[in-house]
Amino acid sequence: MEIRALAEADDQSRFRSGDPDLDRFFARFAGQNQFRHFVGVTYVALDGARILRFATVAPGHVEIDRLPAAARRSLPSYPLPILRLARLAVDTSAQRQGVGAELLRFVLGLAVRMAGDVGCVGVVVDAKAGAVDFYATYGFVAIEAVEGRSDARPEPTLMFLSVVTIRKALKG
Ligand SMILES: CC(C)(COP(=O)(O)OP(=O)(O)OC[C@H]1O[C@@H](n2cnc3c(N)ncnc32)[C@H](O)[C@@H]1OP(=O)(O)O)[C@@H](O)C(=O)NCCC(=O)NCCS
Repeated sequence: MEIRALAEADDQSRFRSGDPDLDRFFARFAGQNQFRHFVGVTYVALDGARILRFATVAPGHVEIDRLPAAARRSLPSYPLPILRLARLAVDTSAQRQGVGAELLRFVLGLAVRMAGDVGCVGVVVDAKAGAVDFYATYGFVAIEAVEGRSDARPEPTLMFLSVVTIRKALKG
């Protein structure tokens, strides 16, 4: 299933992840954030005309002292560029079939491209409580805080995965 950037003609209204906040963000804000404000890009995969999953990303930065000690080593001590995975969700009809993992791998690939094109030390995700274990499976570790806190309640757990680790995993 092709993963591509959200298009203005797409219909986000039928998507249901089981999390009303995520669905509301997708239906109301993903498009205007991307097409009008340029603050992030949402990637989607469709089955026919129906969107079955989405991931919203934006560039950001992280203070070095927030990173896990292993990731800090030999990095300069100014704010470091990251790719922020702001939201990721799969329609309930397609959950637990491996498609969330596939979309996450696509986002990790974006971070590697960003690293090569403009610089990026890793991916930071705002993980909702129920998804912390999902991200931990792929090597994300909890970090304390990044600029631009979420207004979601309960506040999500910020988690980090370095581009060094992603590149090693891709090389096998
Ligand atoms: C969390 C979510 C994105 C996972 O996507 P998915 O397509 O259902 O997950 P996958 O089928 O790709 O699962 C990949 C692996 O992660 C595991 N996994 C999936 N969801 C998990 C969860 N919530 N907690 C722990 N592990 C999870 C699966 O068991 C699978 O493991 P396996 O490879 O050993 O079998 C999806 O269930 C979802 O959209 N949930 C509601 C919204 C949400 O919580 N989004 C995250 C916000 S940050």
